[in-house]
This record gives sequence, structure tokens and C-alpha cells, in this order.
Amino acid sequence: MEPNRQKRIVIREAERKDSAAILSCLQQVTMESDFLSSEPDEMSLTVEQEEQFIEEMSARSNSLFLVAQSGEEIVGTLTFTGGTTRRTRHVGEAGAAVLRDYWGNGIGSKLIQGLLDWCPRAGIRKVNGRTRSDNVRAIRLCEKMGFQREGVSKRAIQIDGWYFDFVLLGRVVE
Ligand SMILES: CC(C)(COP(=O)(O)OP(=O)(O)OC[C@H]1O[C@@H](n2cnc3c(N)ncnc32)[C@H](O)[C@@H]1OP(=O)(O)O)[C@@H](O)C(=O)NCCC(=O)NCCS
Repeated sequence: MEPNRQKRIVIREAERKDSAAILSCLQQVTMESDFLSSEPDEMSLTVEQEEQFIEEMSARSNSLFLVAQSGEEIVGTLTFTGGTTRRTRHVGEAGAAVLRDYWGNGIGSKLIQGLLDWCPRAGIRKVNGRTRSDNVRAIRLCEKMGFQREGVSKRAIQIDGWYFDFVLLGRVVE
């Protein structure tokens, strides 16, 4: 079925009822793109485990799970996991994924903006992210949203015997 890009995109927090749709979205992104850390057959969470994960994220005041919804479909996700100690609760790691058919429509930007809007309320002062150094789209998206390159982690990913570096990206939240 053709994606309906005319439908309004709603960015909202993930709920238990989204579990199956989130799993299918993430499974699809792993098949469409090499840029996630898992391969399709490693996306092995059950719907129940995903429900539990959503509840755990929602219960943590410094973590966030956003979805992008188009009609009935989940077309993108963003997770932000905050630190678990007093010294690290202000900082965390974000990761985003959007279905390929919807790339270039501003959904990634909206997900990150949703995260940045939430950060002050949650006491988050720093957002970290990392992606393959050849993931030009993700790096441009992050830089557009105010992230800076903070370093490189060498040989962070291995695919079919080829090694890839990660670029470490960081966004200070004032
Ligand atoms: C990275 C990803 C989340 C971006 O989502 P998206 O919905 O396409 O993002 P946007 O439409 O908001 O575009 C973001 C920016 O990408 C850049 N961009 C768009 N098309 C591009 C292209 N063909 N080449 C390079 N950069 C491009 C632009 O800077 C764009 O912002 P702009 O249109 O305002 O100038 C999505 O491509 C994805 O899910 N990729 C696979 C998983 C992944 O790489 N995740 C990130 C690592 S955690």
C-alpha cells in the first residue's frame, strides 16, 4: 500500500496499545536501512516485552518514548534514556527511526523537537546521540537541531566484516 503522506503526523508519547505497531515499525526500519545497531532477526522483543518497556520508560521521569503517528500507523519512534544515578540523571542517549517511505518529510525533526521541548520539564541538560559516520542524513538532521560533533568511536559497528565508526553527537539544553 502506498504511504499516505497527506495524513497529519502526530508526535506523542508511546502507549501500551502501540506495542505491536512500534515493533513492526522498528522491524521494517532494520530491513530498510543498515543504520540501526540490530539486524532484523535480532529484533526479537515480544509484544508483551515491548509493552513492559513502554511502561518502564513512562515510569521514569528522565526517559521518553515518542512515536510519530500517521493515521493508524506508527511511522517513526524516538527513545531517550536518562541516566540512573544522581550524577547522570541530567543526561541521556537518544535514538530515532523513521520508515523509509516517510524520510525527508520532517518527521525526524519533529521527533527531536518533541524531545528538546520535553527536556527542561524533565531536568535534562544534555542529550547525546551516536550514529554511523556515513549516516549523512542523521548527522545533518542532528546538526540542524543544534547538536555538535563531540568525537568519533572507532570500529563501533561491524557489518559483514566491514567496520564502521560512530560519530558522537551532543546537544546542550539550557
Ligand atoms: C535519520 C532519520 C531518523 C531522519 O528522519 P527524517 O524523517 O527523514 O528526517 P527529516 O525529514 O526531518 O530530515 C532531516 C534532515 O535530513 C537532511 N536530509 C534530508 N534529505 C537528505 C539527503 N538526501 N541527504 C542528506 N541529508 C538529507 C536535511 O538536513 C533534513 O533537514 P531539512 O529537510 O530541514 O533540511 C531517518 O532517516 C531514519 O530513520 N534513518 C534510519 C535509522 C537511523 O539512521 N537513525 C539515526 C541513528 S539513531
